[in-house]
Amino acid sequence: MRLTVIGLGYLGATHAVAMAKLGHQVIGIEQDQAKLESLKQGKIPFHEPGLDKALTEVLATGLLTFQSSHKEQSQAADLHFICVGTPQKESGAADTSYVVSAAKELAKNLSPESVVVGKSTVPVGTARELKNLMSDLAGFEVHLAWNPEFLREGTALEDSLKPDRIVVGAWDDYSVEKVKEVYKPILATGTPFLSLDVETAELVKVAANAFLATKISFINAMAEIAEAAGADAVALAEAIGHDERIGKKFLRSGIGFGGGCLPKDIRGFIARAEEIGAGSALEFLKDIDQINLRRRDKVVEIARQELGNVSGKKILVLGISFKPDSDDLRDSPSLEIARKLAGLGASVTVHDPVALPALKDKSALTVESDLVKAAKDAELVILGTEWKEYRDLDPSVLEVKSKIVIDGRNALDVDKWQKAGWKVIALGRNIKN
Ligand SMILES: NC(=O)c1ccc[n+]([C@@H]2O[C@H](COP(=O)([O-])OP(=O)(O)OC[C@H]3O[C@@H](n4cnc5c(N)ncnc54)[C@H](O)[C@@H]3O)[C@@H](O)[C@H]2O)c1
Repeated sequence: MRLTVIGLGYLGATHAVAMAKLGHQVIGIEQDQAKLESLKQGKIPFHEPGLDKALTEVLATGLLTFQSSHKEQSQAADLHFICVGTPQKESGAADTSYVVSAAKELAKNLSPESVVVGKSTVPVGTARELKNLMSDLAGFEVHLAWNPEFLREGTALEDSLKPDRIVVGAWDDYSVEKVKEVYKPILATGTPFLSLDVETAELVKVAANAFLATKISFINAMAEIAEAAGADAVALAEAIGHDERIGKKFLRSGIGFGGGCLPKDIRGFIARAEEIGAGSALEFLKDIDQINLRRRDKVVEIARQELGNVSGKKILVLGISFKPDSDDLRDSPSLEIARKLAGLGASVTVHDPVALPALKDKSALTVESDLVKAAKDAELVILGTEWKEYRDLDPSVLEVKSKIVIDGRNALDVDKWQKAGWKVIALGRNIKN
């Protein structure tokens, strides 16, 4: 099939490559010239395992090309995927202006047979507004479907090609059939296909993210209790996780969730619920957000307890991306902790296996890509992102001033670090040192 993918960030670049891998003829459309040039040259402009290689492969087949705006050849596409960003507005609500402007541009370049497929995460009701807007501009009833994306950064390509479900919301069978056709090779492997009404399809994504955020904040609330009671939240998670109704996944206590999706999606969901008169249903998500943010403050508090006045003291933060295998710094908990400590006058050095080049605002932070140099004379080490490199690290290589580590992810081998002479402090745990 002939496709366009509009907006080539984490979602769109991955989707464009994945669709070309399935054998479709894909035109990727991106307005950021630097990103566009990078993609044309076979270089993914962010870190995502396996995606560079896959891009090179599909570029060689000629199935994926790039352009900065719609041109004649893109008008003829069977499907247009909207993958632009929906960042958080100051009010907390989702900013749908990029989706609206992409839809407007598309409406001027659309054929009546094409199906517009939204993949961005939007407030419920957005698709209906876009359909009306685009139909007015195009002068015909536009086919529109919503097809939320569930990929996770770090395993994005794999998640795109082997999703655990494909959800589509549409007003007409024609659109559903076109979406089914594009994913035919994936559906042939038995992937569940859920054809829903549009509002429900929009809600699936934010509801899933709200649930995941709740699970993480639940165990982090238990960590607060464990800290007050002298109990151990990691052992608690293990024990409750044996109940298969609860499960062990997403139950690791630590400095909480971040990134370009979970935090802004729960805030956007709260804002939309209020707009549609159902605000009280999501009051609890405000607590979920607060529990999450409190964990970042807890690390700062522990640092102050350990160092007294942190001013002038060297602190090393290991990992600045919001999760391992990604260089995404959006709302990264570890980066916020680093900045808060720097704000208190600490001399904060940050290290990360891949994300340092993505750090544009380096103010008040020292960036060091050599781990041994980064650790030299540190008085405190904080594990902020659980990269494998840190989990596997031999702590004896770190020549620090004082051997104190705060494990913000409950990811370190406590025995190993203690045997190397370190005092290990971990969130939600009462470790005897
Ligand atoms: N990142 C993820 O893991 C993920 C997963 C699932 C869903 N989502 C959702 O997908 C959407 C995109 O997220 P992202 O992380 O890829 O964002 P992003 O900011 O990385 O990418 C968005 C891209 O769209 C481009 N763009 C904006 N308007 C455009 C236009 N009119 N024409 C062409 N290009 C345009 C921007 O330049 C940018 O490169 C969001 O709604 C997000 O919530 C993201």
